[in-house]
Amino acid sequence: MRVIICKDYDEMSRKTAEIFAERIKAKPDIVLGLATGSTPEGLYAELVRINKAGEISFKQVRTFNLDEYVGVAPDHDQSYRYFMNEKLFDHVDIDKANTHVPNGKADDLAAECAGYEEKMKAAGGVDLQILGIGSNGHVGFAEPGSPKDGRTSLVDLTESTIKDNSRLFDSVDEVPKQALSMGIGTILDAKEIVLVASKESKADAIAAAVEGASSTDCPASFLQEHGNMTFVIDEAAASKLKSADSYEKA
Ligand code: GLP
Repeated sequence: MRVIICKDYDEMSRKTAEIFAERIKAKPDIVLGLATGSTPEGLYAELVRINKAGEISFKQVRTFNLDEYVGVAPDHDQSYRYFMNEKLFDHVDIDKANTHVPNGKADDLAAECAGYEEKMKAAGGVDLQILGIGSNGHVGFAEPGSPKDGRTSLVDLTESTIKDNSRLFDSVDEVPKQALSMGIGTILDAKEIVLVASKESKADAIAAAVEGASSTDCPASFLQEHGNMTFVIDEAAASKLKSADSYEKA
């Protein structure tokens, strides 16, 4: 496990984009696992810039997003499909047919989840997965209590996640209560994982994820067991780490 502490959000985003650019150059048809949330926005902006500068191409890149709200149409401005189009896909040379986000409006949600896992498998699995982290330690929407071997499934959002995400909706009542999300087992199958975190509000979750015992109380703590795991975090998110001095500085 590698932990890289960056001065601030911009450095965190640049450092993470460097890792992504290197991997895309090394494998042009790479399978990326992608995440939503405000934290990876800087990474996506940097990837757009590098793509426009001609340094990397997404022409053959394939992507699978972690999760999607249930009951929210892809063209709804709070859907994760909409977010990905807005922040990345509409601005790079990617073939949208190669981009996958679970369909939260599917008639048969269980079949949608099983089919999503099959599609990932057929693509050869995720080579590089980006993750954010919830203030309660969730990754994707694998909430506290999620099993370590969990696969893509229909999940109930916790009260704290509904509250955290309500800032993006007109009111807390409009926040969906369920989502389709990769499970921890699905996420751990990725060949390489990078988790980004910024701001003091993530400091407790990062301390539990990086230095806490591996436990379903903090789903991100299971990432410690992955053989190719890097946490790229800013100083504020690192502020509750006991061994902060021993980690790499960007
Ligand atoms: C949502 C997403 C997660 C994301 C989290 C944190 O719950 N499902 O994938 O990591 O939000 O978002 P933010 O980066 O905005 O704090």
